[in-house]
Amino acid sequence: MRKPLFIGNWKMNLTGSEATDLAKKITMSLGSVEDVDVAIAPSYLAMRPVSSIVSASRIELCSQDLHWEDKGPFTGEVSGAMLAELRVKYVIVGHSERRRNFGETDLMINMKIDAALRNNLIPIACLGEKGEERLAGKTINVVRKQMNALLEGITPDQARNINLAYEPVWAIGTGHNATPEQAQEVHKFLRDQLTKRFGEVAREMHILYGGSVRPDNIYDLMMQPDIDGALVGSSSLDAEHFSAIVRYRDRKPAAV
Ligand code: PGA
Repeated sequence: MRKPLFIGNWKMNLTGSEATDLAKKITMSLGSVEDVDVAIAPSYLAMRPVSSIVSASRIELCSQDLHWEDKGPFTGEVSGAMLAELRVKYVIVGHSERRRNFGETDLMINMKIDAALRNNLIPIACLGEKGEERLAGKTINVVRKQMNALLEGITPDQARNINLAYEPVWAIGTGHNATPEQAQEVHKFLRDQLTKRFGEVAREMHILYGGSVRPDNIYDLMMQPDIDGALVGSSSLDAEHFSAIVRYRDRKPAAV
């Protein structure tokens, strides 16, 4: 049974004091929540103060990125070893904003997955098609190719500690989420591919959905059998919205 996992990606938002305030609100509202796992991904600079706020709660820390080397001449970068020391549990790799704005390739992301595992961090590896690729009917081919490249050289034992996030690029920050059926189709495809590759281990791997997740659409998304949680951007910057997403079961429509 995969326990739902929700990760709030704060991206390049919030100063240190704003991040601390939001972390306090989220901790108050979700600190003892059960039956789900929750993490927040502040900026590197806010990681330490946020870490001390969430440390007594069930909320975990996630990093928005890491470098593929553990140390060395990489000005401006942060390594897995540095994150692990702060008790970071998860790390997002290959977000489409990094692919688009910073030239990240599937090979770099594959190396980042390796670096995360080496440092006992759980990678959340992102993939997803662009709008024009979906319109051209190429979605499945695109995600297949990305997934194969990202997981190159990964053993079943390593796969146990890897999560995927299906994030259609056209849904990120646009207010237009994939419908539950569109998302499920891709998640099911990914699960089948993972099963071919890793066998039984694929049942333990989380496949998160990301792209305009909100309190009003999360319940229907979570009802899909292969959607195991969400990577949440803008809605995670509002404590009430993020809490409502994590507590999606409370929104269950009344039986008719
Ligand atoms: P969004 O971002 O929720 O603002 O669409 C999602 C993401 O980038 O992971």
